[in-house]
Amino acid sequence: MVDDPEFIMDHWETSWSGFQRSIDSIIRSDTMDIARFVDVLHQFSTAQDPIFDDVNDRNCAERNLARDRKGRPYQTLMVIDGQYVSVPRKFRSEIFLADALITEITQDTQVIVELGSGSGRNLFYLYCALPRWPLKYVACELTAAGRQVTDTIAALDPKMDFMSQAFDYRHPDLSFLPTGQNVVFFTSHSIEQIHRLDRKVFDEMIESTGKCVGVHLEPVGWQRDPELKTFVESKSRPDGDMVLDFDNQKLLRNCARWALEKGYNTNLLEILGELATSGRIKIHTTAYDAFGTNPFNPGTLIVWEKL
Ligand SMILES: C[S@@+](CC[C@H](N)C(=O)[O-])C[C@H]1O[C@@H](n2cnc3c(N)ncnc32)[C@H](O)[C@@H]1O
Repeated sequence: MVDDPEFIMDHWETSWSGFQRSIDSIIRSDTMDIARFVDVLHQFSTAQDPIFDDVNDRNCAERNLARDRKGRPYQTLMVIDGQYVSVPRKFRSEIFLADALITEITQDTQVIVELGSGSGRNLFYLYCALPRWPLKYVACELTAAGRQVTDTIAALDPKMDFMSQAFDYRHPDLSFLPTGQNVVFFTSHSIEQIHRLDRKVFDEMIESTGKCVGVHLEPVGWQRDPELKTFVESKSRPDGDMVLDFDNQKLLRNCARWALEKGYNTNLLEILGELATSGRIKIHTTAYDAFGTNPFNPGTLIVWEKL
């Protein structure tokens, strides 16, 4: 991935169109309901860059872990709480994120909005995990193909109060929200796609709502290291070529290199810090490098509230 809006749009339109084709026949089966589909969906969401085959192979050999009949390691390398660990390969981030969101959803929450929602896997997992109460679910996504995937899945359950909405971080517009509502916004590896985010996105969230909470799972932990931030912002490699070593001492450098290679976000921590300093939000939680199924791009969990 590079820092080029057109390239990013094409990449994700193609990716979500392919995803739609792979779910179409499954979703048409008479026996499918939304909870069952959320589990099936996970089987499609785990395909990763081939680079990880090599990493998981090395990890398996070094730690003498078990393999399945096809020779694939049962354990995969992930990051949890800033450490490289081997975990069952079906571990999923939806559970971790839903747990953080459920803590923030109160009786007076009216709307839950995911920005950059992709397939909507997080919203649908959350819907199945929450007891029913009046809550509107909104999938805000850049691509038409991604929005179509979410519409197809949501149609499995007419009781779900769901809508998809075109949204671009580069031209943020939340005017589709009725004014003054109590909203929980969240993001999962979508702000990462925007090299330099404009703080207008947060102005929109804050100004278009009554109460407002933000929950982010984004790979920005390395941004707290001023030296790495300077390296990545100046597009110079911290340590020469990319060597993906799974050594805890190198974790932040690996993350910075990953962000540099992909053209990922460099300024989310900075913006949230400024908003907190100016008294517009209060940051309740920052769990650096808390969870990453991609061990070189772990998400930092940040929870804030509008003041
Ligand atoms: C890595 S996927 C994550 C999808 C989803 N949040 C998840 O956790 O499964 C990144 C998503 O960000 C979306 N995206 C990329 N650029 C965007 C932009 N400028 N505005 C809104 N969404 C964008 C992509 O279309 C894609 O769906």
